[in-house]
Amino acid sequence: MKFEIITIFPDFFASPLSHGMVFQAQKRGLIEIRVHDLRDFTNDRHKTVDDRPFGGGPGMVLKPEPLFRAIRKIQAETSTASRKVILLTPQGKRFEQQLATQMSALDQALLICGRYEGVDERVNECLVDEEISIGDYVLSGGELAACVFVDAVTRLLPGVLNNSSSAVNESFAVLESAHIPPSSISPAFLLDYPHYTRPEEFEGKCVPEVLLTGDHRRIERWRRKRALEKTLKNRPDLLQYAALSEDDKQLLG
Ligand code: 6GU
Repeated sequence: MKFEIITIFPDFFASPLSHGMVFQAQKRGLIEIRVHDLRDFTNDRHKTVDDRPFGGGPGMVLKPEPLFRAIRKIQAETSTASRKVILLTPQGKRFEQQLATQMSALDQALLICGRYEGVDERVNECLVDEEISIGDYVLSGGELAACVFVDAVTRLLPGVLNNSSSAVNESFAVLESAHIPPSSISPAFLLDYPHYTRPEEFEGKCVPEVLLTGDHRRIERWRRKRALEKTLKNRPDLLQYAALSEDDKQLLG
């Protein structure tokens, strides 16, 4: 999968995309990331990317011309069966696991990082396929959101995670099956259970004894209980999607 990121802060991406899974996936040729400087698509001496909003109001708005040029150039120089132009702003559709799964089926994602007060709406109308937000809070720009998008989508691509089962059992994994409305999700939609590694005792705190027993049925039951408890404590809203068995209800007490 190819990620094309359009930004006024290209240097921002040097570090976030050069570590861990995203870096390895690039090295192995499973993904390709190109960062495009919006200022390279300006025509004036000052490389102007923004201007004041018509109708007044605070802040600056990203001008349409450089964005149109950038997107059209990238589209013209790449050919692909399925691509989407994605505008990252707080006004977008919320980015959740199900949307990440849908995006992982693309072979190219063009990510436009919004900035300032906004982006000229004609970009949205004419070029953008999806407007996406990573959550209900306001960031100063779409750059962090682009990193979130690349990470969440990359780890779903075939061959990226060596341990294919580690993507299955964790929080939100059940939402990875695309096109299934949350209400029909089965068997459950829970946060992940807590994890422990060595040492067995650290500053007087011991690893739960059950994890040392090798009794896989007991361990599974303990993990299920802790996942239920954590979900009830931190995300009670998710329990409405969880198909809780009688056993689950008993575990929850
Ligand atoms: Cl994609 N951009 C900005 N600026 N703020 C956000 C966001 C995106 N998602 C949540 N907040």
